Amino acid sequence: MPVDVAARVVENRPLSRDYNVLSLDAPAIAAVAAPGQFLMVKPGAGSDPLLRRPFSVFEILRGANGAPIGISILSKRIGPSTRLIYDAREGHRVDCLGPLGRPFTVVDPPSDAWMVAGGVGLAPFATLAQAVRARSVRTTLFYGARTGAELFYLDFFRALGVELVLTTEDGSTGERGRVIAPLDRLLGSRSPRSPVMLYACGPEGMLAATARTAIAHGRPCQVSVERVMGCGLGGCYSCVVPMRGEDGRYHHVRSCISGPVLAADRIRWD
Ligand SMILES: Cc1cc2nc3c(=O)[nH]c(=O)nc-3n(C[C@H](O)[C@H](O)[C@H](O)COP(=O)(O)OP(=O)(O)OC[C@H]3O[C@@H](n4cnc5c(N)ncnc54)[C@H](O)[C@@H]3O)c2cc1C
Ligand code: FES
Repeated sequence: MPVDVAARVVENRPLSRDYNVLSLDAPAIAAVAAPGQFLMVKPGAGSDPLLRRPFSVFEILRGANGAPIGISILSKRIGPSTRLIYDAREGHRVDCLGPLGRPFTVVDPPSDAWMVAGGVGLAPFATLAQAVRARSVRTTLFYGARTGAELFYLDFFRALGVELVLTTEDGSTGERGRVIAPLDRLLGSRSPRSPVMLYACGPEGMLAATARTAIAHGRPCQVSVERVMGCGLGGCYSCVVPMRGEDGRYHHVRSCISGPVLAADRIRWD
C-alpha cells in the first residue's frame, strides 16, 4: 500500500548545475519500495506547481543496523518542481506519495541483466543493480549523457560489480554518440544461447530505439516509461501508452498503474 508522508529533507547534494540528489526521511516508503517504483512528489507548500510530479525511487537509505530509514531521488532541473527540489534545504518538508506503480521483474542467473540509461533515466537503476547483484546476476550498465560531467554515480555501480559501457554525445567520456550503438554491437556478438534481460529508462526516443534493438536481436526488454502524470493513481488518464493486448489489438493503458515498467515489445512506438 502506498503511504503519503511529509518527508523531511536530510540532505541535498548538488551533482551539477541541474542535477541533485535529495535524501528524504521516509522509512515507511523505504521499507516497501521495489526497483522501478515511483513517488508522486510535491516539494513546495504553495500552489505553483499545484500538482505532484512523479520521481523514481533512486536509493534506499539505511541506518547503522541496515534498516531502511529513507529514500533519495535523483532530479534534473527542468521546471518549477525540479527547481524547488534543486533548492530544497535540510529540514524542509516534501510531500511524497508512494511507492507507486509496477516494479521491474528481477531476473536470476543464468540470465545477465543489461540496464540502458539515458540522462536522468539512471534513477531506477541504483536499486535494480543492488537487487540483481544480490542474486549474483552478471550486470552491465549502458549509460549515456550529453557530456562526461553528467555521468553520475559511476563508483556506486562499479562497487556493486556492475560493468559500465559509457557514451557521451560530445565524446568527453566513453564512446562518442548514443548508447544504442554499443548495445546493438554487443547484442550482435553475444551467443543466442546466453540469456539476457534488457532494462531501459530515459527519453522516449532512446526507449523506442532500445525496444527496436531488443526486438531485432530477439531479447526481452522492460522499459520504464516517463509520461506526464497528473495523479499517479489511475484517475486522470494523462499518462496513457498504446499497448498491444492479449487479443492482438492496441489499447491505451495508464502507465502509472500498469507501469511505469512495461514490456517493450507490446508498446506501439510511433
Ligand atoms: C514514472 C516517472 C518517473 C520519473 N522519475 C524521474 C526522476 O527520477 N528524476 C527526474 O528528474 N525526473 C523524473 N521524471 C520526470 C519528472 O516527473 C519531470 O521532470 C517533472 O515532472 C518535471 O516537473 P517540473 O515541475 O520541474 O517541470 P514541468 O513544468 O512539469 O515540466 C517542464 C517541461 O518538461 C516537460 N515534461 C515534464 N515531464 C516530462 C516527462 N516525463 N517527459 C517529457 N517531458 C516532460 C513538460 O511538458 C514541460 O515542457 C519521472 C517521470 C515519470 C513518469
Ligand atoms: S497519472 Fe493519472 S491516470 Fe496515470
